[in-house]
Amino acid sequence: MDKQRPIGIFDSGVGGLSVLRILEKKLPEEDYIYFGDTARAPYGNRSQSEIRRFNLEIGRWLLSCDCKMLLVACHTSTVLGMDAIQEETEVPVIGMMEAVLTGAFATDGEDDSPIGFIATSSTVQSGAYQKAFAEKAPGRAFFAQDCPDFVPLVEQGITEGPAVERSVEAYLAPLRDAGVRTLILGCTHYPFLHSAITSFLKPGVRMVDPAESLADMVDAYLHAEPLRKEAAGSERGSRRFYCSGEPDRFQAVGSLMLGRPIEEVGRRKF
Ligand code: DGL
Repeated sequence: MDKQRPIGIFDSGVGGLSVLRILEKKLPEEDYIYFGDTARAPYGNRSQSEIRRFNLEIGRWLLSCDCKMLLVACHTSTVLGMDAIQEETEVPVIGMMEAVLTGAFATDGEDDSPIGFIATSSTVQSGAYQKAFAEKAPGRAFFAQDCPDFVPLVEQGITEGPAVERSVEAYLAPLRDAGVRTLILGCTHYPFLHSAITSFLKPGVRMVDPAESLADMVDAYLHAEPLRKEAAGSERGSRRFYCSGEPDRFQAVGSLMLGRPIEEVGRRKF
């Protein structure tokens, strides 16, 4: 396979940019095509059959753009139907689940304190992470909480202020009171609320953004295959952005989230 091909990455909206920003630091020379399905976001209350269909539509399109790897930068899409794309292609398709497990147990050693997990309603209701944790750490307390207001806030570019603080308190107070010492951000939109969440939790709570582990996994995979792009010196790769909704809006909110201007956003509807 040609190493010079781009990496495709997608989410329901701007959330996957929290994954892209970490990948860009680790693998800046790679070319990336990012797709945010903003016309159909949020995914958090969608049924499994809808999510599987969206995954297939977006996955097929990214494959038609000649991607050498697909990253499902959305926990909801990962747990409700990543296999739909995997069954169709030889191209590696990597989702968030393994990264969550690696990230959660990376540094807590023999610690047996309760783990908190926050995600969309569809992800929590799927029970996928509860099952995976019960297998990996039997007997360890695991509290899963859905936070349905978080994604709409982030999609509007709101990451601080009274509305965020109210939601953070409502969702996270039970986890804080349960003595959670590790909090896993099980939705790629949530890292953008990092400051608000940190201010609310007790000091010393470890927050896990699985994107860090995902970037390590992608790096290791590209290295092993080998599929890493060959670039001259520190040359930065290209970035192309697409969304299914309003491109101007994605450009404005996405630039805010990425912390740098997104030059151009194309529209791709399904
Ligand atoms: N960012 C996504 C996730 O990780 C989906 C959020 C949504 O659209 O509800 O689950």
